[in-house]
Amino acid sequence: MPERVKIFDTTLRDGEQSPGASMNTNEKMRLAVQLEKLGVDIIEAGFPAASEGDFEAVSEIAKRVKNSEIAGLARTSKQDIDLAWGAVRHAAKPRIHTFIATSDLHLKYKLKMNREEVLNAAVDAVKYAKSLTDNVEFSAEDGSRSDRDYLCQVFGAAIEAGATTVNLPDTVGYAIPDEFAELVKYVMANTPNMHKATLSVHCHNDLGLATANTIAAIQVGARQAEVTINGIGERAGNTSMEEVVMALQTRQNLMPFETGIQTAHLYPTSRLVSMITGIMVQPNKAIVGANAFAHEAGIHQDGVLKNPMTYEIMKPETIGLSRNQLVLGKHSGRHALHTHLKGLGYDLSEEELKIVFKQFKNLADKKKHVMDEDLEALVTEGVLRT
Ligand code: KIV
Ligand code: ZN
Repeated sequence: MPERVKIFDTTLRDGEQSPGASMNTNEKMRLAVQLEKLGVDIIEAGFPAASEGDFEAVSEIAKRVKNSEIAGLARTSKQDIDLAWGAVRHAAKPRIHTFIATSDLHLKYKLKMNREEVLNAAVDAVKYAKSLTDNVEFSAEDGSRSDRDYLCQVFGAAIEAGATTVNLPDTVGYAIPDEFAELVKYVMANTPNMHKATLSVHCHNDLGLATANTIAAIQVGARQAEVTINGIGERAGNTSMEEVVMALQTRQNLMPFETGIQTAHLYPTSRLVSMITGIMVQPNKAIVGANAFAHEAGIHQDGVLKNPMTYEIMKPETIGLSRNQLVLGKHSGRHALHTHLKGLGYDLSEEELKIVFKQFKNLADKKKHVMDEDLEALVTEGVLRT
């Protein structure tokens, strides 16, 4: 049996920290429902202490989503933890995620605390969170630039206080794969009672290495990957879910791990995130970019027609991308529209479909071919923004 790697999606929290990506409760809910359908193990729905809007969005998502755990982020203060719990407590599977920085740089300039104070703050926060729920994650912000032994000491204390997951972030995307794998091995070997918790990694993409670092960490023992759809997130973004999941699936021969992700929903989810956040995917983006399965060179086209495996390491259908896209026009019916929208990530209710279908027919009267961008605009205007 392949070992399971849990997928912790933070599109709604770290992803939302991308400049310009803020989402309203309605949009967050749509995405959360899609992430549940995708098979995400843990959805980090937001940072309830950040704003009333975030608190509300996390609470609503917690009430609705049943199959994924719902996490709320909190600093180590009692007030933050109370707010996180207030929002996630409605969930079938709630999780409190508390964090504090552990690098000397952050301690000195940001927190103005010494190591002992940070350790105590981490322990108190985890103990308090544990008094509210069994499911507590602790993150050591800037962990990859922290003193290794201190990091292990803090993780060990957090586990003793009740953390069930300890997360090692490469907060500023500074690590390189060999180095990060070494650090993960060190943490696994030197953290007291590490076997009682899951080790998670959370990588940022400042050097374009977030996926490589995450994969390197999984190969040496990390069993939770924190990711976002399309890799959106602070600055250059976070590890992209579709890259990690498809790398694990495509290279099973070297990495015998499984995730719970239903990969056929990856592409529709990517489209949905682009539409909701307004952040478009670069054409050459791995897995979900417009050119990821396009072949331009004659030699490549010839090869793919003879056997797709000549130039394709994954089947486009695996990620939910159909080779035979239907062209929609004025003769298309509701069923074709519904199916096509599902492929774009919009599983509309009867009522919503009725609204969009009417607008689609109006548009199709004026335009020969209705493009995906047109449909997405109709859904955004007619359904998402209402
Ligand atoms: O990048 C980071 O360190 C974070 C933590 C809050 C997990 O996002
Ligand atoms: Zn982060």
